[in-house]
Amino acid sequence: MTSDLTSQLKSTLESVLAPHHQSHVLKHWEKLDSAAQQKLADQILAFDFDQLARLFRQQDTGTHWDELAEKASVPPAITLADFADAASHDAAWQAGADLLRQGKVGMIITAGGQGSRLGFDHPKGMFPIGPVSDVTLFQIFFEKVMARANQFGSVVPIYIMTSPPTHDETIVFLKEQNWFGMNPEDVQVFCQGVMPAVDHNGKILLSEVGEVFVSPDGHGGALLALEKSGALADMQQRGVEHVFYGQIDNPLVQVCAPALLGYHANSGSEMTSQVVRKSDPLQKVGNVITVDGVVQIIEYSDLSEQYARETTADGSLKLWAGSIAVHIFKTEFFQRMSDTTDSMPFHRAHKKVAFIDDSGQRVEPETNNAIKFEKFIFDLLPAANHAIICEVDPADGFCAVKNAPPAAAETPDHVKQAISALHTRWFNEAHVQVADGVIVEISPLFAPDAKALKEKIDADPALAAPITKNTYFN
Ligand code: UTP
Repeated sequence: MTSDLTSQLKSTLESVLAPHHQSHVLKHWEKLDSAAQQKLADQILAFDFDQLARLFRQQDTGTHWDELAEKASVPPAITLADFADAASHDAAWQAGADLLRQGKVGMIITAGGQGSRLGFDHPKGMFPIGPVSDVTLFQIFFEKVMARANQFGSVVPIYIMTSPPTHDETIVFLKEQNWFGMNPEDVQVFCQGVMPAVDHNGKILLSEVGEVFVSPDGHGGALLALEKSGALADMQQRGVEHVFYGQIDNPLVQVCAPALLGYHANSGSEMTSQVVRKSDPLQKVGNVITVDGVVQIIEYSDLSEQYARETTADGSLKLWAGSIAVHIFKTEFFQRMSDTTDSMPFHRAHKKVAFIDDSGQRVEPETNNAIKFEKFIFDLLPAANHAIICEVDPADGFCAVKNAPPAAAETPDHVKQAISALHTRWFNEAHVQVADGVIVEISPLFAPDAKALKEKIDADPALAAPITKNTYFN
């Protein structure tokens, strides 16, 4: 770039930045070569500074969570295992099975998070979690999807959401693993957007002298990314009417469970969410509530302790329903919402973000210095027609990998134990004994659920022998 072009570009950028008091971003402009200047310019020109300013100013005028919590109750929830009669359960299962058989179901896996608490230097999906096999989170999810499709002789396409920090490595890994046997044409990996972060004065932060700090725009970024990437169009073209949604860090997700799918479809629900009974009033899960007939979620960080601890007359927790980020969406609903601008709000998270200061020095803050902006997928709930919630026992469907040891909860060891405990129970339900202390793991391709395992054991008496050593059934 000639020096004329450079100064022309700089003045264009200044005219964008100055009205928003963000000119500091160009502080190190002269130190950059022309390629780096162009890169920084492209980054700046892609931001919506009006939106950023609005989000920053919103600090005192956002939702009044306490007022909402005051009026909140929990919407009626059904537990599929306790359906009033077996016939209702069978009807839901059959409806779900029909949808799967007809190829009307897809699977979204969000895998764009950075796993900072886990301290794993790769996309979280590459984390080895199989308690005996050491298979990765990605492998478990792929096998769950394939097992469900095989069960009904159909295809369940997978849509994996990555983010700029996880995208390339995810694709390389999945190719290396040969897509775990899935036809690559039935897997779409799409990348979510990013947002800059601001300091407590609303100034955007630099991660390098020539680069603005950005981070993924939250799992709610899925809505826009599905649309932009063509994944939504692919669903429509394939006739996918319902999409099951799970997050990569919970290997217990009951992927495309037929009864849940059928219950959702038979209820005419546009969005169905699985919940657990919270084990602790302050458990770090979104609180599913209803106010004036609108089902919505208050994130744990937005719910004051006073309301989190509130009990009913019988002493049980009033806001008992914790979201486990497992949902089923009607594809049509995604389409409707993606046509609506600003259909989801941004949430603010206070975080520590290392940055480059005006003198060009890198600063590692010791306390939270930045506000990140993220969208949450559950914010689609209030807009969904006939939204319903369904309770699951966490032992059957929820144990997420979040933290590195020695944290008290949600570490890889906790999750491995939960997988082994669940699979031991499936064997016990099929009258197969598992010796104390023995770890068992079942590949979803061996049996996707307790019912399928029982059928397999009934058909093959050799499988009914007691299990006396650690075993991976695959
Ligand atoms: P979390 O925010 O709990 O986990 O996201 P994380 O980002 O993996 O880990 P931390 O917070 O940095 O320690 C829950 C799920 O949502 C996905 C994650 O991949 C995970 O499956 N997610 C989160 C996204 O896909 N994009 C995001 O921007 C944020």
